[in-house]
Amino acid sequence: MKIAMVGSGYVGLVSGACFADFGHDVVCIDKDERKIAALHDGVMPIYEPGLDNLVATNVEAGRLSFSTDLAEAIKGAQAIFIAVGTPSRRGDGHADLTFVHQVAREVGENLAGEAVIVTKSTVPVGTGDEVERIIRDTGTPHRFAVVSNPEFLREGAAIGDFKRPDRIVIGAEDEFGQEIMREVYRPLFLNESPILFTSRRTSELIKYAANAFLATKITFINEMADLCEKVGANVQDVSRGIGMDNRIGSKFLHAGPGYGGSCFPKDTLALLKTAEDFDSPTRIVEAVVKVNDSRKRAMGRKVLDALGGADAARGKKAALLGLTFKPNTDDMRDSPSIAIAQTLSDSGVKVAAFDPEGMEVAKPLMPDVAMHEDPYSAIKGADVVVIVTEWNEFRALDLGRVRELANEPVLVDLRNIYSADDVRARGFKYVSVGRL
Ligand code: UGA
Repeated sequence: MKIAMVGSGYVGLVSGACFADFGHDVVCIDKDERKIAALHDGVMPIYEPGLDNLVATNVEAGRLSFSTDLAEAIKGAQAIFIAVGTPSRRGDGHADLTFVHQVAREVGENLAGEAVIVTKSTVPVGTGDEVERIIRDTGTPHRFAVVSNPEFLREGAAIGDFKRPDRIVIGAEDEFGQEIMREVYRPLFLNESPILFTSRRTSELIKYAANAFLATKITFINEMADLCEKVGANVQDVSRGIGMDNRIGSKFLHAGPGYGGSCFPKDTLALLKTAEDFDSPTRIVEAVVKVNDSRKRAMGRKVLDALGGADAARGKKAALLGLTFKPNTDDMRDSPSIAIAQTLSDSGVKVAAFDPEGMEVAKPLMPDVAMHEDPYSAIKGADVVVIVTEWNEFRALDLGRVRELANEPVLVDLRNIYSADDVRARGFKYVSVGRL
């Protein structure tokens, strides 16, 4: 089957490469000529483990190609995916659908045969209806269906998530749409991955409900962590203790500096907006957004406390290890590190940092932070070392070397990746999240 993927960003590229790997004939399209030229040269626009190899293998096998010419590239495609960005609209948090609508129009104007148009971008409820209207208004003579197929990929684990999904959700209003989507996902269907067919609006809402629920779970355990610190309990044991209940589940119960990334912050805001528009408030999600926002700066204050308070901290140096919102990505969007670095700089603390993949993207976002080539050079002369992101290479730091290089042996572990007893036994003052 020929598939066209419009939008060669994170979702489009990963999905396109994986569909090609299933044996489909895929063309990934993007307006950005530089991006497409780089892809022709085998250069990935994002860092995602395994993606470069997957792309190279499928390009070589002749199943994956790239193009800037939408009209030409969608010719003969039975499934045309829309995987363009839906950023938060400035001011009101609504998902900005400009790109989705533009692509819908362009697809409608250039349809050369019957096709299913699939929204993979995260779009608010009702977007599928609008896409259908836009395409119909172009006056295309060809049969088409508009289907919703949200993605549930995690950055850093996207290829595995795509090939072994917990479920595939397909919102289709007619048999034609369902039939083509069954064909698209046949290899996973044969693998017995569950496929859930729903109405289009339901499918659109499932995406937001899933992300809002996960964000809620994280925020819940983060508040429990704060309480643990006050009452002398251990949040990791609380997570285990509640997570062993199958009804709760153990995942997404790691306390930390608050969630970030390109999805949870944007999608929770967009859900609030939809709920407001339909006069059906989602107060739990409202609270989650507020709590998570304030948590990021609170983590900066936690570091100031470890330095002896805001006054004592002035002029001291903090070394931040990890800047990206989570490991195995170079994504800095809404990363807690931004608010933490800002809080520290505002209090006159000098900030040094190291991140294995994110420093290029981070530099313009935190101009006051001195970026270093490796963790130890960032740590040199620091009065506090802060683990912000749990990259594997920070899990086994040479603590002897850290002690020698640092000005003061103080470790603030915002991801709870060290054992308090071990670190304290090495002579450190150790502060973590939700543990004494
Ligand atoms: C998230 C969802 O997990 C995916 O299912 C979804 O497809 C994706 O959004 C999307 O909508 O595109 P992602 O943003 O890549 O994926 O990252 P997650 O692994 O979910 O982490 C999000 C944030 O939550 C990170 O800042 C992470 O550090 C934080 N987190 C996660 C915690 O603080 N504690 C946890 O227990 C889990």
